[in-house]
Amino acid sequence: MSSAGLRVDLGRGLVLPNPVGLASGTAGYGFELAQLIDLDRLGALYTKGTTRLPREGNPPPRVAETERGMLNSIGLHNPGVDWVAEHYAPLFAAWRIPVVVNVAGAEISDYMHCARHLDGVEGVAGVELNISCPNIAHGLDFGRDAAGAARLVDAVRAVTGRHVMVKLSPNVTDIAAVARAVEGAGADSVSAVNTYVGMKIHRASGRPVLPQGTGGLSGPAIHPLALAAVAEVRAAVRIPVVAAGGIDDVATAFDFFAVGADAIQVGTASFADPTTALRVLDGLAERAAAGRIPARWGTTAVGSP
Ligand SMILES: Cc1cc2nc3c(=O)[nH]c(=O)nc-3n(C[C@H](O)[C@H](O)[C@H](O)COP(=O)(O)O)c2cc1C
Repeated sequence: MSSAGLRVDLGRGLVLPNPVGLASGTAGYGFELAQLIDLDRLGALYTKGTTRLPREGNPPPRVAETERGMLNSIGLHNPGVDWVAEHYAPLFAAWRIPVVVNVAGAEISDYMHCARHLDGVEGVAGVELNISCPNIAHGLDFGRDAAGAARLVDAVRAVTGRHVMVKLSPNVTDIAAVARAVEGAGADSVSAVNTYVGMKIHRASGRPVLPQGTGGLSGPAIHPLALAAVAEVRAAVRIPVVAAGGIDDVATAFDFFAVGADAIQVGTASFADPTTALRVLDGLAERAAAGRIPARWGTTAVGSP
């Protein structure tokens, strides 16, 4: 099924051939998945959260299954931004799929360092600022504070000409306030949502299954929560909104388009079935062929300036 006509222009040079992406941290840097599926048919690959220096991540176990979902506490295991820029980006450059590098840090200077290092690097289509990681110390600090998030985006905006997407945390009382703040500071788009803080107890011992105590909940269990958050964000900003949370088929993806998302990310479902994102894409293409897609597609994203 052809996906021509599903192109989404998110602004500042980030043009997705179609709206279906792979969510950060659920596809690594794409190399393993590329052996299983035709990555180049998809709209975008959002990489694992990448930091200034390499990180080993948290001790195992790092994941736990829950009812219709999973908890993870990976702790941003990644090879560091230098490695990504020097060794991975040249490989990304040979792909058709745009690669957006998800960036994380503890300080504004960490994010600036990463964004500066990736600016102008061939193969890097944009950066997604992860201000919403529940699994590292200070990972949520910027995501929970609208003024802090704005300062971060303002600083990153100054050091990169690439598209800046900001990944919002659902673990806040007012996600719309954070969305508005980052839009005001110059973000080109927002993605929502990251995982929800959750916990699972090992019943025999009465202790948490994950050594950190809590982890990030994802998968179908969060879909209704994520929908509500995305609807709230959509109403708050004019910039494009990229949605994630529990998508496991074309219907759950379409729910996000119904509340105004411009593009989507498939996450946890890829672990159970690596072809999920392609199935979602094929489903969208079928709907497109039947004329059942939003009129704005094939042109420019809803809120693009
Ligand atoms: C194992 C795992 C690792 C993740 N790592 C990151 C990450 O490094 N950066 C980030 O912004 N989001 C990360 N996420 C969040 C996902 O990108 C996505 O926002 C979230 O899982 C909700 O989508 P889903 O329910 O389809 O998985 C991770 C999720 C999982 C399950």
